[in-house]
Amino acid sequence: MSLSEQNFPKLIIPPIENLHRLDVYRANGGYEMYRKALTMQPGEIIDEVKRSGLRGRGGACFPTGLKWSFMPKGNDKPKYLCINGDESEPGSFKDRLIFEANPHLMIEGILIAGYAMGIHTAFIYIRGEYHRWVRIVEEAVEEAYAAGLIGPRMKETFGGSYSMEIVVHKGAGAYICGEETSLLNSLEGDRPYPRVKPPFPANVGVYGMPTTINNVETLANVPVILRMGGEAYSKIGAEKHPGTLLLGISGHVNRPGVYEVPSGLPLLDIINDLAGGVPGGKAIKAVIPGGTSMPIIRGDALEGVMMDAEGLKAAGSAIGTGGIIVMDEDTDIPHMLRRLIHFYHHESCGQCTPCREGCGWLEKVLTRVDTGEATSEDLDLLVDIANNIEGNTICALGEAAAWPTRFTITRLREEFEAKVKPTLSLPVLNRVHSLRPSAHEEAAAVSN
Ligand SMILES: Cc1cc2nc3c(=O)[nH]c(=O)nc-3n(C[C@H](O)[C@H](O)[C@H](O)COP(=O)(O)O)c2cc1C
Ligand code: SF4
Repeated sequence: MSLSEQNFPKLIIPPIENLHRLDVYRANGGYEMYRKALTMQPGEIIDEVKRSGLRGRGGACFPTGLKWSFMPKGNDKPKYLCINGDESEPGSFKDRLIFEANPHLMIEGILIAGYAMGIHTAFIYIRGEYHRWVRIVEEAVEEAYAAGLIGPRMKETFGGSYSMEIVVHKGAGAYICGEETSLLNSLEGDRPYPRVKPPFPANVGVYGMPTTINNVETLANVPVILRMGGEAYSKIGAEKHPGTLLLGISGHVNRPGVYEVPSGLPLLDIINDLAGGVPGGKAIKAVIPGGTSMPIIRGDALEGVMMDAEGLKAAGSAIGTGGIIVMDEDTDIPHMLRRLIHFYHHESCGQCTPCREGCGWLEKVLTRVDTGEATSEDLDLLVDIANNIEGNTICALGEAAAWPTRFTITRLREEFEAKVKPTLSLPVLNRVHSLRPSAHEEAAAVSN
């Protein structure tokens, strides 16, 4: 049976009309999982999330229950929860769908997470350019406040002594604001420079207080886990990266969009079946499987690649944000890489020299490659620059520029070779050299 014929569970985006409205969400059991959470001890909720195997959907795949357990216990200091909805990685557009189609699921996840970690204030940080979605989320939060589901009145609505305030914060419109520590600086009104870690946000986060940062999709999974139970959730999809994934598919496919599927499906089937294949039946030259910072996979190496953290690791890439970009046989790969590095160069915050200068050099050399002015040696130079950025910076934006450069050039080198001038190889140089008279012969000729 093809993937499109299979009835996969739609846990995050169920096909319910107007689910973004509070009355519809509540009519479908909304906010009942928060009520259930209140019957549990905070530690039990964290254990349930650990049991589910949920891993962060913001790119690093960090186990969510484990992250929550880092939050210091006790109430002597205010603690904060930041919801990362910056979503600026090219090729990533799945959190936007949650904002639009099911914002209360995320809000309910925030309440459960807050209760589990003893947090009373949450900031939903949304990408600066997402004007429309900021408004939708603001309306959902306002509606929930008005209904006594958030804020001081939630004690009356649900009983108990717990309450939470939620603030919607519009981001500054820079990619770097999605890096968790620069998000904290941005929230505080400072320039969004990533912070050196340690200290980690769990100990020193926003306003210097303990803070947990989670992606939008990560938190939307939390009510689902309480409803199903962690054990049942852990059985969905790939064993080491369970649950459904919201995959944003773009590029050369007939049906681009966001698809909710269990993790661990074959990447080729997702492209050819769910996304309708490549227009004109063209061959696939390459695929970036998880947003543009993730290593590219050649079209002829896609067979058997599975769409989950471990499957992509085995294929020499990573799942990142689950943004799949498909490139057909006509794609100008050097031009694509030049364009991509232009983005990372533009978005570098400039704090660390390897990233600030390195991204600039990458862009300069790639421009030479793209315009046919470079030699093969420049390709090695690019890999060398990328290697010198990787691991030498404060945040992972350095890797976000270095990885695509290194992997695209090494894996699709022939695409670059076709655009550069041949380098004079060593044997040729030696031959040219041997045609010239030696210094001894020259000296003898002069003295004669
Ligand atoms: C340059 C850069 C940009 C990032 N942008 C985002 C983003 O837009 N959204 C997001 O959730 N995580 C983003 N991350 C990852 C976050 O730093 C962090 O790992 C994530 O929000 C944690 O949430 P999770 O554990 O639920 O995945 C980015 C990381 C880097 C280095
Ligand atoms: S790696 Fe780049 S973006 Fe990250 S802190 Fe350094 S200069 Fe800024």
